[in-house]
Amino acid sequence: MIRDDVTITYRPHTSDLIEMRVKWLNDPAVNQHLGSSPTNQAKQKIWFEQYEQDESKHFFTILADSQPIGVVGLMKSDLTRKTAEAFVMIGEAEYRGRGLGVAAIEYIKQYATGIGLTSLYLGVHQENQAAIHAYQSAGFAFNPAKDDAEWLAMNWHSKTSSQLFQDVSR
Ligand SMILES: CC(C)(COP(=O)(O)OP(=O)(O)OC[C@H]1O[C@@H](n2cnc3c(N)ncnc32)[C@H](O)[C@@H]1OP(=O)(O)O)[C@@H](O)C(=O)NCCC(=O)NCCS
Repeated sequence: MIRDDVTITYRPHTSDLIEMRVKWLNDPAVNQHLGSSPTNQAKQKIWFEQYEQDESKHFFTILADSQPIGVVGLMKSDLTRKTAEAFVMIGEAEYRGRGLGVAAIEYIKQYATGIGLTSLYLGVHQENQAAIHAYQSAGFAFNPAKDDAEWLAMNWHSKTSSQLFQDVSR
């Protein structure tokens, strides 16, 4: 639940966000659990050029009262297998712990469903309690069969129409 009256919107992730990405991705509170190395403007410019060529990536900038505060998205989208890897990052520290992470995951689930995907997966560092709680609150479950050492596998499946029918008829 969002616990204040900030207006949240989402827009496609565009290269004007390079400076913000460098700031967010170099913040230890963000990268400590991501396993990512320090970045800079040049690296992010290259990243954006590759991103724009990669049709399996669907990233959205999260805006709070029109100001960019983070990113949510899908990677490795596979329309045949109807699945993708999901992630969320609230880059601006003052916006963490306010329910916006859960809201962003709900947004990307809805977007994924809209393009025909039925399941999402991700890996989360076992010490990243904020992320684990956020993904759980948004309906992701652990998938111990796919755990990888320090990384916990989680996934979400949309309900098929037959499952919905079973729920209604119980
Ligand atoms: C992980 C992240 C997206 C969570 O978003 P958030 O907006 O801060 O989290 P929310 O306010 O939506 O809270 C989600 C849940 O986590 C809990 N939580 C939040 N911060 C927490 C913390 N530091 N420790 C433990 N639990 C925490 C909340 O109580 C809430 O639990 P509930 O739904 O059971 O009430 C955000 O903290 C973030 O961007 N972190 C850095 C990047 C990152 O780790 N991304 C995930 C990569 S897999």
